Amino acid sequence: MAKRRTIHICNACGSQQPRWLGRCPDCGEWDTLQEELVDRTPSGGASGVPPLPSIDATPAIPICEVEPKAEARVATGLAELDRVLGGGLVPGSGMLLAGEPGIGKSTLLLQTARRVAAGGARFLYVTGEESAAQVRLRSDRIDPEGRDDELFLLAECDLERIEAQIAAVRPAVVGIDSVQTVRWADIPSSAGGVVQVREVTSRLLALARREGFPILLVGHVTKDGGVAGPRVLEHMVDGVLQFEGERGQPLRILRGIKNRFGSTQEVGIFEMRSTGLAEISNPSKLLLGERRHDAPGSATAAILEGSRPLLVEVQALVSPASHGAAARKVSGLDASRLSMLAAVFEKRLGLPFAERDIHANVVGGVRMTSTAGDLALAAALLSSLHDNALPADCVFIGEVGLLGEVRPVAGMGERLEEARRLGFRSAAVPVGSIDPDAVPGVKVHEIRDVGQLGRKIRPE
Ligand code: TYD
Ligand code: MG
Repeated sequence: MAKRRTIHICNACGSQQPRWLGRCPDCGEWDTLQEELVDRTPSGGASGVPPLPSIDATPAIPICEVEPKAEARVATGLAELDRVLGGGLVPGSGMLLAGEPGIGKSTLLLQTARRVAAGGARFLYVTGEESAAQVRLRSDRIDPEGRDDELFLLAECDLERIEAQIAAVRPAVVGIDSVQTVRWADIPSSAGGVVQVREVTSRLLALARREGFPILLVGHVTKDGGVAGPRVLEHMVDGVLQFEGERGQPLRILRGIKNRFGSTQEVGIFEMRSTGLAEISNPSKLLLGERRHDAPGSATAAILEGSRPLLVEVQALVSPASHGAAARKVSGLDASRLSMLAAVFEKRLGLPFAERDIHANVVGGVRMTSTAGDLALAAALLSSLHDNALPADCVFIGEVGLLGEVRPVAGMGERLEEARRLGFRSAAVPVGSIDPDAVPGVKVHEIRDVGQLGRKIRPE
């Protein structure tokens, strides 16, 4: 019997180490090595020696002789998903649908399956997470009316049996929920480990490529990015769609973080409802829906999600520090931006932020990651400090620098256009960042620095 040996595999870069180390010597990531049992060399793995090419392998040819055929895509019928995919699923391709547990990956996969099947293309939905009956119940709840005789369900975890069913059912599209539950019996390690996940994925991708069907692989990630390596998978698949959202909030954002067949600038926006995921074509309206116009501490920012402008409400609450050190609490935005703005106000305007507790958040479960939201956060802070509500029809756009200067950001036209569409009539923007007549109906107020902003917001 072959001697059983263990190796340690990095779930970030896939490199193999003979012993456990706190830090991967190949990619430098910390705490990514995972122990795996091996008693055979995984085929095609990092240590696998590629087989010698056979004599009848495809010869190299001049590029001009290559048939430039564009692949006919399979539109999923979910416009928000198709947008992120770049127009639909590409035959023979493999896409990873990644996200934290509970975010809605299974729901999105099932809704995709229903749409594809309703369009007459056969979808094989493989579930290793739930029973077929559970999936059927969910399917009925999402869409009791829909046609589903082309939607095939398989509750199975064994790779070879899944492959046999793919051969038997001949689906146009395959979905696997999730890749961590599938196990190839030839490999002695347990399901969900890096070796299994990588080998299973490589087999399924090869099958998809050979048979020409697109495959969607669901992969779990945890908050700390750990567990069985979707990060290893990112290198193997043609695209990675990341499904994100804040716990307890209905908004979900689907982001293409890698896409061989489309732009990674596109995002899809959904709302999780009791009847499944609803596509949201006008997210700003949803996000600003519950805004209170007359409350101090509320400002509207225009951010870009991918190439889509999105209007969000930024809230700040500035209050006297309750005990000792002032508290800084944020949600949906970067704590370091808040600290920076508070320090700029303290230093440049002599405002008493150091001894105040500050809470700041972005409403609706969106994360404001770019600095273009600085001016709105600054306005919300000043508005709360002075207890003076901002004009309800004004949007704030711009980055704030360390000297208190307001700096231009990209995409001003798109941002103002979205603001106009939602009924905003004025905008506070960096000096010289847009032609004042560029967006008719929106009056542009140029703001040079936070001092000027402060004078506008301070009560007379
Ligand atoms: P799920 O798709 O199972 O998440 P994942 O596969 O990413 O783990 O859905 C997660 C949550 O979504 C679940 O806790 C309940 C909620 N949900 C709804 O609110 N409405 C629905 O119609 C469905 C199907 C789920
Ligand atoms: Mg699931």
